[in-house]
Amino acid sequence: MASDRKPAIKDFLHMNGGNGEFSYAINSSNQESLIRKVHPILKEIIKGIANDPDGFPPCFHIADLGCSSGPNTLFFVSNIMEEVHEVCKEKKLKPPQFQVFLNDLFGNDFNTLFGSLPTFYAKRNKDNEENFGRCFISAVPGSFYGRLFPDQSIHFFHSSGCLHWLSQVPKDIENNGLNVFMAKTSPPNVFEMYKMQFQNDFTAFLESRSKEIIRGGHMLLTFGGRSNVDPYCNNSHVNLWELFTRSLADMVKEGIVTESQIAAFNVPTYNPYKDEVRDLVHIQGSFSLDTLDTFEVNWYTDDTDDDHGNVKARNQQSLGKRAAKMIRAGSEPMLITYFGSSAMDLIFQKFEKYMDEHLANTEETKPLLIVISLTKK
Ligand SMILES: C[S@@+](CC[C@H](N)C(=O)[O-])C[C@H]1O[C@@H](n2cnc3c(N)ncnc32)[C@H](O)[C@@H]1O
Repeated sequence: MASDRKPAIKDFLHMNGGNGEFSYAINSSNQESLIRKVHPILKEIIKGIANDPDGFPPCFHIADLGCSSGPNTLFFVSNIMEEVHEVCKEKKLKPPQFQVFLNDLFGNDFNTLFGSLPTFYAKRNKDNEENFGRCFISAVPGSFYGRLFPDQSIHFFHSSGCLHWLSQVPKDIENNGLNVFMAKTSPPNVFEMYKMQFQNDFTAFLESRSKEIIRGGHMLLTFGGRSNVDPYCNNSHVNLWELFTRSLADMVKEGIVTESQIAAFNVPTYNPYKDEVRDLVHIQGSFSLDTLDTFEVNWYTDDTDDDHGNVKARNQQSLGKRAAKMIRAGSEPMLITYFGSSAMDLIFQKFEKYMDEHLANTEETKPLLIVISLTKK
């Protein structure tokens, strides 16, 4: 670790910036598939707004929370604008203008995102100049576990692939030893503290959004979950961090990282079971829960076409590498904070090897996603 100060999540929790080999921008097609999967729900919400007597406001205020630095956030923005456009055409309504706020933590590479705006605007203007509401995009850095916007100023909140990231590593889990997550050998308090941290964070998220959203406004949220009520079930998230722990253990044997570095590191994510989410929405009380659904994705095998059984065999050679790149793009700033940048290549080479072995010998456990849509009461 670079210093004795305990690292704060806001300092390291962001994806790899830029457009290089390990950047989030070029290793986030799996996350794009989540946006595609939940598109039918988005469509329904937009239709519902168009059918409401109040319809769309003159300027539709949208926020994408946890936008990161890749192309997915603008993909979502295009999607929602097109859906609004379609429905306005069908109902002969004047399309609204769009004010879009892209949010992420302060360390996010917003500059890469800004760099892609001219192409985005040019395409919009070319395709739709005459009959499409204008779009104004800006960035709002800060944590979505606190306030980001003025009271009742947003009509639609979106977030994809983010809310399983916690606001901090749970407290009082020093006895988790060399585990870096909730593992089979973790003491019971570790499971409890992770769960409690998620409950506090998710509630804080709903509290802040409930103040910022207009009455009748909508939220569409997709994030990692688990399929079993038991937090230590056979889910892909557990597999992933166990393979990672093995890579770290090898590096201890080779004298590259120390046990105390591993003991200081715990991954700040929690994948809830759907009932936990439902209960928290009801307890917080500001939103009605319109949709609560789960779906699986082919994370490590193929991101473009879920439905073909032969995809895994076709891509077999590169699975470990591909998985390692994806994980690296999403966690390298955090891992550098704990283990130093010189350890990164080796950690991910080992991880790649373990991932290949795992996927060759085991039926892949696919990540489970939870999607919810909510309306402000
Ligand atoms: C896996 S990326 C998803 C990015 C994007 N939504 C997509 O679909 O590709 C998760 C993002 O959530 C952001 N994030 C995590 N915790 C956050 C917080 N408390 N406030 C704002 N952003 C956060 C991370 O920095 C990261 O960019």
